[in-house]
Amino acid sequence: MGFGFVSELEVRGGRRLEGTLMLQGSKNSALPIMAATLLLDGETLLEDCPDILDVREMLAIINGVGGCNEETGCCFTGEGLRLFHNRIDGVPDYESCMRFRASSILMGALLATAGFFAMPYPGGCKIGRRPLDYHIEGFKALGARVEEKDGMLVGYAGQLKGGFYRFPYPSVGALENLLLAAVKADGESVFENCAREPEIVDLCDFLIKAGASVDGAGTDTIRVKGAKRLNGIRYRIPGDRIVAGTYMAACAIAGGNVRLGNIEPGRLDCITDILKKTGCHVFTDGRINEIIIMSDGRRKAVNYLETGPYPGFSTDMQPQMMALAAFSIGSCRIKDRVFESRYRTAWELEKLGADVGTDGDSVIITGRESLHGGVVNATDLRCGAALVIAALGIHGKTVITDCAYIMRGYEDIQRDLEQLGADILWRIKEENAGNR
Ligand code: UD1
Repeated sequence: MGFGFVSELEVRGGRRLEGTLMLQGSKNSALPIMAATLLLDGETLLEDCPDILDVREMLAIINGVGGCNEETGCCFTGEGLRLFHNRIDGVPDYESCMRFRASSILMGALLATAGFFAMPYPGGCKIGRRPLDYHIEGFKALGARVEEKDGMLVGYAGQLKGGFYRFPYPSVGALENLLLAAVKADGESVFENCAREPEIVDLCDFLIKAGASVDGAGTDTIRVKGAKRLNGIRYRIPGDRIVAGTYMAACAIAGGNVRLGNIEPGRLDCITDILKKTGCHVFTDGRINEIIIMSDGRRKAVNYLETGPYPGFSTDMQPQMMALAAFSIGSCRIKDRVFESRYRTAWELEKLGADVGTDGDSVIITGRESLHGGVVNATDLRCGAALVIAALGIHGKTVITDCAYIMRGYEDIQRDLEQLGADILWRIKEENAGNR
């Protein structure tokens, strides 16, 4: 697939999924690690970096602030993503930052290298409010000055100083930003109530291999000692747990027998437990990073699912589990405690005949034996993925529009599912990729 185009997918469901897939590298690990390379001297090579829209968008922004282009700086090579920067400028491209919210992960690295940043304050988002107050308060704790001017967020730091910050809530992005600032600060920083997501562990692992002193990744307290110099390295991005979870849910819906490689099973313990409760068989082998899932296509509903920080149920798997619930026997009440308006998938599933209700701020899905085909809209990345896997369970034709959203996080969902035996086709049409 090329990038920069919106496309539609056409799915004719009713086929079981069978076969083996090697999973792509993790989007949410790759993005902050790309930002981290702004802090390093010399070249970095990221093996298994996924070739997805979000990575391409980050690449363009990083080449802009790093004074390079795809020929002189960062680009995909046969071995992976090569990253190299000539100089660091603290003002990333305005339009790109407006389109791509994860550009906010650049703030910490820009403060630590250019000594300042100026970027648009990211606006609302289709999955709910996404404020940056913890990022800002955390930067202040490291000696930076941050203010909002005419819709722009502007930060200044001479030399950042080690400091202390306790997160009011374990935010992934805010911790990543503070880690990137703290590894170049003068002295020691301590962060409490930290996010424990595997992607935080990956970022810390990368920084340590580049020469940083970081202790406690994966626990709720992280200590960082600032370093003067960090060096470019070769690093392999681990497999994507959300892509793995999506294909596990696909198998649960369609029925079948699927083997997934390049994934640390421990990262999916919560999803594995839920799928076992629905009646799937799941076998994992951490020594060879493999998950096998078997489903006879008849599922029991799990009564209640509530999203939360890792190791809890990930909000990024909530839409896919909603799709599964639409086919299960019984009712499932779903509450998203991380992003309060992440329920658009439910309304799209309703267009396919799903039984959807609400109760306060929860959505209740009562499973039906079958849904019917139709045209539905991918309103965001994981909603799009959820609609595709729902379509696999429908005997009939389903068209999913605005699939560029899916390409933000999945290298090629059509290629992957076709490899497992699904009847799924791209229907490409040129359009703007929209606000991500
Ligand atoms: C990251 C992931 C995203 C995932 C999310 C939660 C990336 C690129 N994105 O997003 O896929 O869904 O974690 O696991 O890795 N909050 C504040 N103030 C802040 C920051 C966050 O109130 O300054 C709140 C948010 O509104 C949200 C919660 O904290 O309710 C968690 O958000 P956060 O962990 O920051 O999500 P992201 O880092 O944006």
